[in-house]
Amino acid sequence: MNYIVVLPAAGSGKRMRAGHNKLFLTLRNKPILIHTLEVFEQDPNCAGIWLAVKPEERMIIQEMLDEHHITKVKGMPAGGEERQHSVYACIQAAEHEADLILVHDAARPFIEPAVIKKLAQKASETGAAIAGVKAKDTMKRVHNHIIEETVDREQLWIIQTPQAFQTDILVKAQKQAEQDEFLGTDESMLVERLNIPVHVVESTYDNVKMTTQEDLLMGEAILQKRQQ
Ligand code: CTP
Ligand code: MG
Repeated sequence: MNYIVVLPAAGSGKRMRAGHNKLFLTLRNKPILIHTLEVFEQDPNCAGIWLAVKPEERMIIQEMLDEHHITKVKGMPAGGEERQHSVYACIQAAEHEADLILVHDAARPFIEPAVIKKLAQKASETGAAIAGVKAKDTMKRVHNHIIEETVDREQLWIIQTPQAFQTDILVKAQKQAEQDEFLGTDESMLVERLNIPVHVVESTYDNVKMTTQEDLLMGEAILQKRQQ
């Protein structure tokens, strides 16, 4: 199933404390951004990549793309204040390019091709499908450090990206969110507001987002294991 992918890459990486965009940090001598791009570059079903970037970083990113022979990037719109705005900028640029769009954090370099395939398939059949893993720990709702409730773990999933949507659904959800000034932490939240069912596809625990310094250690370990 052919799709295009939107990769928000216009963040600041404040929690990583790198002093610059964390996506330029390297794992095994290759920028995190390039690790993520290579997954889609190598997927024959990926028909194009749209990257949301900070305008002042466009040149350095273009140099990285050239150096690492990334050829599928079709556009690099300017990102916005929040992640949702960055994704929206890409959707507006790319909405006529494909019937199916995946949104994936540029900061998640370890997404498995098999999961991408399952997501694209499910979303093309149903309209919306997102990646997640089952919660492993005991989960409790807490208010002011006092437990209010132990939540049934069987029903809890930790949600990741990619999130895959039929293009018309995602465009409609984005427009409605903009009109309502609703800000979500993922695209699924915008689609859920339209009462459209969103399917969850089981992903892998190593699809971690490089967010804090500890994640880099995990990232190096994942790469080492995969290269064995
Ligand atoms: N992102 C973006 N535009 C923003 C904010 C985030 O394109 N205004 C992107 C990031 O580059 C990242 C992805 O969205 O690939 C997930 O966001 P996050 O992990 O929060 O990255 P940052 O916002 O860069 O990090 P932090 O929140 O720690 O500052
Ligand atoms: Mg952020």
